[in-house]
Amino acid sequence: MEKMVDDGYAIRAENVVKKFGDLTALKGVSFKVKKGDVVGYLGPNGAGKTTTIKLLTNLLSPTSGNLYIEGIDVNKNPQKALKNVGSLIEVPGMYGYLTPNELLTHFGKVYRMNDERIKQRIKRVLKTVRLQDWEHKKIEDFSTGMKRRLAIGLALLSDPEILILDEPVMGLDPKGIKEIRELINSLSEKDITIFLSSHLLNEVSLTCNKVIFLFEGEIVAYDDVETILGDAKHNRISVEFLNPLSKDEIDDLKSLKYIEKVKVDGNEVKIYNSGKKERMHKILTILIEKGFEVVSFSYEKKDLEDLYISLAGKSEGGVK
Ligand SMILES: Nc1ncnc2c1ncn2[C@@H]1O[C@H](COP(=O)(O)OP(=O)(O)OP(=O)(O)O)[C@@H](O)[C@H]1O
Ligand SMILES: [Mg+2]
Repeated sequence: MEKMVDDGYAIRAENVVKKFGDLTALKGVSFKVKKGDVVGYLGPNGAGKTTTIKLLTNLLSPTSGNLYIEGIDVNKNPQKALKNVGSLIEVPGMYGYLTPNELLTHFGKVYRMNDERIKQRIKRVLKTVRLQDWEHKKIEDFSTGMKRRLAIGLALLSDPEILILDEPVMGLDPKGIKEIRELINSLSEKDITIFLSSHLLNEVSLTCNKVIFLFEGEIVAYDDVETILGDAKHNRISVEFLNPLSKDEIDDLKSLKYIEKVKVDGNEVKIYNSGKKERMHKILTILIEKGFEVVSFSYEKKDLEDLYISLAGKSEGGVK
């Protein structure tokens, strides 16, 4: 029991099932996170993100299956497994009457750090989350974004190797989101492993190098951000024509090279094709050459829900 069995992964989930009464929130989730990776755990509301994160931090126990941090079973040996983990789970009420210095000192003592170390870490952490000028100000006067940065600072207090964050940008405005994004990017440069949940694909793509898609308690994809984004860009082009197309023109359009599917709505037409941007360029060129009176031509990003559905379809052997 003394020796840790390092399996080479920062985080590993093995066939994790979590039931709440009749509801199965996680239906056999397995994934591995390599050390130093920044992984986005992406899924719509109710997918099971928070449940997974609570299992990873031993706030819940799995119905079956196992979760490991650095090779140690979290639910069997939580203290040891979570020794190098910092986490942000529920956005805490945050003791408004305290200052960051008081809050962090309190938690430093809880973590049994000595006074010298506490002082040193407070300086470092507040600098990291850019609150160094606010060390002795009351937390109740902080903006939501500042409170969130402080909560991440608290997660960083013990200098963890792994950071687990549940929806770190939830409820923040664009400026607050940008600040957290910059913070996460600066942390990822320091070789810290980060596992963060979100329902925002775009946000995840700006901070993470890997994405896990969770949909209704099941993992439907786990890949590099670039690959996932490539899938997301399974193209849908919105074209507006000067006038509504005639039936002949629509038939013409459908028969053109590179166009797979066409959906007409007055003078607005959706064109579907799979493939790269060069193909879209070719489609536009062909439309113009054929004399179609194009007013606008734009590339519509599929929304996240479309992506989930196409990924869920794929995982069952379905088509896009
Ligand atoms: N303590 C609980 N008791 C009963 N059901 C629960 C409990 N916790 C979560 N659930 C249910 O489990 C499912 C997954 O919830 P979870 O909070 O993990 O989703 P989530 O992906 O974090 O969603 P959100 O984006 O809304 O935060 C939901 O259907 C939720 O209602
Ligand atoms: Mg949640």
